[in-house]
Amino acid sequence: MFTKETIQKFEKLSTPFYYYDLAVLKKTLSEVQSLSKANNFHVHYALKANSNPEILKLIQSYGLGADCVSGGEVKRAVETGYKSDKIVFAGVGKSDSEINYALDQNILCFNVESTMELEVINELAQKKNKIASVALRINPNVDAYTHKYITTGLEENKFGINPYEFDTVIDLIKKLPNIKLIGLHFHIGSQITDLSPFKKLCQRVNEINTWFLHKGFDLQILNVGGGLGINYKEPDKESIVDFKSFFSVFKEFLEVRPGQEVHFELGRAIVAQCGSLISRVLYIKKAINTNFAILDAGMTELIRPALYQAYHKIENLSGSLRSSPSGQLFKYDVVGPICESSDCFGKSMELTETQRGDLIAIRSTGAYGEVMASGYNLREEAPKVFSE
Ligand code: LLP
Repeated sequence: MFTKETIQKFEKLSTPFYYYDLAVLKKTLSEVQSLSKANNFHVHYALKANSNPEILKLIQSYGLGADCVSGGEVKRAVETGYKSDKIVFAGVGKSDSEINYALDQNILCFNVESTMELEVINELAQKKNKIASVALRINPNVDAYTHKYITTGLEENKFGINPYEFDTVIDLIKKLPNIKLIGLHFHIGSQITDLSPFKKLCQRVNEINTWFLHKGFDLQILNVGGGLGINYKEPDKESIVDFKSFFSVFKEFLEVRPGQEVHFELGRAIVAQCGSLISRVLYIKKAINTNFAILDAGMTELIRPALYQAYHKIENLSGSLRSSPSGQLFKYDVVGPICESSDCFGKSMELTETQRGDLIAIRSTGAYGEVMASGYNLREEAPKVFSE
């Protein structure tokens, strides 16, 4: 929701730019902070969703840890004030130099995805005379019922260790002196809006947690990942995600032994709704069956519609200030300037009558927007604007 004052402020800026409403982010963070405290849960923010330093510092100030998937993200987390004992490092292909850097930082734990990775971390830790704490990323074979590109917990996906490898992994860990197994890690996918896959995940975690206990591993951490989805259709109706229902599933169905900690890695649910991509209409072009509204932002600033056919709400901000009392809407295919047919933010989007120069907001872009930007077509990096 943009006030008249905000839109007038935007009128003076050159477009496109990423806008972050810090009031929305702060409200979201207070909610996460109070619910995680009440449930005794630990939340690590998944930097991959948005690693803008200002955003990261704010999230850190609410006590969240950092979930990183590259050496660059571990470095960014350290630089923006996250304590090393609140940093975890996941990812299916960690390079030696990334592992070495994370070992030097004494991070809380590596989420390990294969037997070969265990051997490499052991060898590198040995050279530094260190013991690396690890959690095993398990592939629980739970369907998240989300887009196939963001489903991660099925046997066919590249992520995690499959249950048929558990005996081999345990035998290996017993032989690796510089590895300490401290937890189990799961992540079944992203943009999950129906909570039932999370219930199924809890049941799988319980079975696997018990299996490891019977093998002599009383593990300190159960990390159930992230994946909680947001409302892209109506961002103003649900600007703060229903974290209460999400956490309740884990409170009810996860069997946690005394002393065990439950960790989450939320990305999208924390940052998506605070961000919008603000753009201007360059041209209106009439075609046989449609009108194109051609923007100065493209798939280089927001690739989600092109890559996952993702829906983002689009609003004509200038139009909202001058709209006629009849409130008549017109249909536009809203596209960008990039030389690709997939550079389309939405087909038949209903907007107030749209003109050259109008300011357009593409909503819910706080997660996987700025971080997935590219310089394709030699586009310049879009600036970031904060509400405060
Ligand atoms: N933990 C792990 C191991 C992950 O792979 C991910 C996301 C997360 C946590 C955070 O998930 P979230 O809470 O944000 O759903 N670019 C895609 C999303 C890719 C998600 C990758 N992994 C998109 O724009 O929809």
